Amino acid sequence: MQKLLGEQVARAGGWLPFDRYMALSLYAPGLGYYANLSRKFGTSPGSGSDFVTAPEMSPLFGRALAVQVREALDQTDTADIWEFGAGSGALAAELLLALGTRVRRFTIVELSASLRERQQEALGPFADRVQWVNELPERMEGVVIGNEVLDAMPVKLLARRNLIWHERGVSLVEGRLAWSDVPTHLRPPLEPTGTHDYVTEIHHHAEAFMRTLAERMKVGAAFFIDYGFPEAEYYHQQRHMGTLMCHRGHLADPDPLESPGEKDITAHVNFTGIALAAQEAGLATLGYATQGRFLVNCGIGALMESASLPDQVAAQRLVAEHEMGELFKVIGFHHGPFWDAVGFREGDRTHTL
Ligand SMILES: C[S@@+](CC[C@H](N)C(=O)[O-])C[C@H]1O[C@@H](n2cnc3c(N)ncnc32)[C@H](O)[C@@H]1O
Repeated sequence: MQKLLGEQVARAGGWLPFDRYMALSLYAPGLGYYANLSRKFGTSPGSGSDFVTAPEMSPLFGRALAVQVREALDQTDTADIWEFGAGSGALAAELLLALGTRVRRFTIVELSASLRERQQEALGPFADRVQWVNELPERMEGVVIGNEVLDAMPVKLLARRNLIWHERGVSLVEGRLAWSDVPTHLRPPLEPTGTHDYVTEIHHHAEAFMRTLAERMKVGAAFFIDYGFPEAEYYHQQRHMGTLMCHRGHLADPDPLESPGEKDITAHVNFTGIALAAQEAGLATLGYATQGRFLVNCGIGALMESASLPDQVAAQRLVAEHEMGELFKVIGFHHGPFWDAVGFREGDRTHTL
């Protein structure tokens, strides 16, 4: 991976923008983190995994989300589900189990060939209804879901130093990958107040993804779950180190130049940018809420009552404010008439976007 990155830096004339570096580190065929065979998702480092996601933590995540997905299928009179970045296939399996024959076809869009194989194995019992595609079709109908996908899309890094904005990229210094800044006309959507040095991210890839999705979705709804904030919070003056983070062996570190390909690289999501991109291309916002509030609205409390004690404990982590309940958000979109969606019925924060 280091060799490939070094070659790419040289080929780019000595400076590679960070979004390109992140795309290669995560998705370069065979070598990138999501392209290699490492385990990635799991509940503890002992399993050889690097981080845990909600569907891995508890089956109740998928069962509660299924309540919202069923309502969205009914409201939009569709029967197809689309999942982006399906990971181990755990969420797809829970949704297919919970929704039964209400789902005519479950289509997974997955960039990683190794994860696709894992998903095919996990979803064997539903093989007649599940299919994989590499790209979005020109026309889509149905309900789209994506858990922790937007945070895995490459970001551009911006650094304000002595009040001058730079784009941060990667160069080679004595044969080693090193940070390197060049002056830029790019700006974050909000200028952080103050005069102090400031590093942050902008999300061209995730926003372009939302525009494409919005253009192609003719009838349906979409739900994305991820960690992040509205832009006023994202570009707050105190968040001067940005949100870029790496994950390996259930430990977080801030250095994507160390061991590329061996760890996940993520950035928080600017939900205002996601909502605007979707809206510009024809998808209206259905709601925006914390994950905790959304899951409670979808009835996770009742699901917990009949669950085993370990499942109850795990589900509690999904809703607890100090765990995943507050930092993670759910944003919903619709194409077609608005309805009062169950997941956003109480605690909708769309006004904060
Ligand atoms: C952090 S993992 C989350 C996996 C799973 N959704 C879960 O919750 O366990 C990110 C996933 O997004 C996929 N991904 C990233 N960008 C994508 C894109 N543009 N289209 C489809 N999948 C994408 C990755 O390959 C990976 O499967």
